[in-house]
Amino acid sequence: MEKLIKILSKEVSDAFEKCGYESYLGSLTVSDRPDLCQFQCNGALTAAKRYKKSPLQIANEILNVLKDSCSFKDISSAGPGFINLNVNDSMLADYLNMMNRDEKCGCDKANNILTIIVDYGGANVAKPLHVGHIRAAVIGEAIKRISRFLGHNVIGDVHLGDWGLQIGMVITELKRRMPGLPYFDENYTGEYPTDAPFTISELEEIYPTASAFAKNNEDAMEEARKATFELQAGRKGYVALWRHILNGSVKDLKKVYGSLNVEFDLWLGESDCEKYIDEMVKYLKENNYTYESQGALVVDVAKESDSSVIPPVMILKSDGSSLYSTTDIATIWQRVEDYNPDMIIYVVDKRQDMHFEQVFRCVKKTGIASENLSLEFIGFGTMNGKDGKPFKTREGGVMKLQDLIETIQSSVLDKLDASKGFSEEEMGDVARRVGLSALKYGDLSNQVTKDYVFDIEKFSSFEGNTGPYILYTIVRIKSILNKACSKEKYCGSDLIQKPYSQCELDLMLKLSKFNETIEFSFLTKAPNKLCEYMYDLSNTFNKFYHSNRIISEENQEKKSSWLCLSSLTKKVLETSVELLGIEVPDRM
Ligand code: ARG
Repeated sequence: MEKLIKILSKEVSDAFEKCGYESYLGSLTVSDRPDLCQFQCNGALTAAKRYKKSPLQIANEILNVLKDSCSFKDISSAGPGFINLNVNDSMLADYLNMMNRDEKCGCDKANNILTIIVDYGGANVAKPLHVGHIRAAVIGEAIKRISRFLGHNVIGDVHLGDWGLQIGMVITELKRRMPGLPYFDENYTGEYPTDAPFTISELEEIYPTASAFAKNNEDAMEEARKATFELQAGRKGYVALWRHILNGSVKDLKKVYGSLNVEFDLWLGESDCEKYIDEMVKYLKENNYTYESQGALVVDVAKESDSSVIPPVMILKSDGSSLYSTTDIATIWQRVEDYNPDMIIYVVDKRQDMHFEQVFRCVKKTGIASENLSLEFIGFGTMNGKDGKPFKTREGGVMKLQDLIETIQSSVLDKLDASKGFSEEEMGDVARRVGLSALKYGDLSNQVTKDYVFDIEKFSSFEGNTGPYILYTIVRIKSILNKACSKEKYCGSDLIQKPYSQCELDLMLKLSKFNETIEFSFLTKAPNKLCEYMYDLSNTFNKFYHSNRIISEENQEKKSSWLCLSSLTKKVLETSVELLGIEVPDRM
């Protein structure tokens, strides 16, 4: 469905044209004084300068054309030549009825369907997921779902960190502990056996030990670097060990991401582009993009217009091994070859902005990515504790994501009203859903680039701008509809009528902005815009609910219109939470 503001703008634009002015002058904006009017047009002021007339005179000419329009309830000129407009009530009701009939509440498929890869998650193999990974997962998933909802062809890729030094560290640590394993034999040619020589929980302990050891011991670090290099060069025993590490980690990661309702289409990682690296390096060399700097192979990416220094991007280290920038560039090479995307969106910690600036410049400069491929870096801020420092456990350690999820669920469990007679199973399920909403909405309602404070009490509250509040509103509407449905035969087939009161009109206007909101959230890659809308809509609905007695209303026409309006609100909110990967309980 065309956006309401567009439909109305079109009508005003036609009026401008009819009066001999350019049509673009007729575009409307949402009024910044909702107490005065719903929409406004400032075109007469702009026209005045161009056409050398008084703005008020122009405004009045437009009003004269529009006075019989059935789209507007009232139109007036104000101040020096603003045009204030209110939409016609029946038109608004018709619009909502159309939304109600539409499967996607009025959100059309995009005109230009794009192939979009969303690179998010970014978990590192052999290390457990920690809270720092939550933002990548939660924001990326929302961006993926919103893009897909608009009909784009979207591919989510976890892009595992599975090819770096951490693997070399784990390999050398295993060698210290179990030197007798056949994998360490230089001539190991054996197949890859199914049984791993370690469990996933052992692995969780092995990596931190190895990392701490290597940090304080140059020999151990050198050994880990060498193992990484040999792995990348294809040493068979190391590759077999690496596959054990990868398999165990991925199994565990799928479980944790799954509990966040985060699902990836591709489980590829840094290692998967290995097969393209030689070809890519050859291409870069042959086309004279590279040069040697202290033994390393680099590409210049600085531009004359730069105000600060952008260092060259490193393609190969002096020992010939690849690094983070190599795999990111080669992954773009691979993605272009496999999917020919129109856009790649990276949802990564904003502290990596320089890395991505270098990578993007390199692939554009060298033609690995064409002009038309849009590369977007969505850098997110840090999730902090109440002390303003990156969130830690009470003991000061890094909190595992799984523990965080459990903590927030138990906080919700305390808030559930036991007198509602939940069975133990239902109680657990409700706490899981509400807890997830607290966690995800608490994150997503913040502007992506900003740091935010993780506050369990605040996030899990049933009041205020929180996930549980949004769910509570949906549950409330479910209960209203259930009551109405069981008492009478209302089952949502009636029509929304013209509003009977101001709070109802407010709700209707808010609902009509859903498609506009989704499109804006997509264009700006800003799930927080959708959250803002959900919160506004919930507040507006609750105001409407508190000022009317829906179930006991005697005027049947009024009542059924109200039920219909409630049902549309529910549908819009349910669609919205689904886009954020949040599940609604039946009651709470
Ligand atoms: N594994 C990386 C990290 O933990 C994040 C990966 C982000 N994606 C990418 N294409 N570089 O920092």
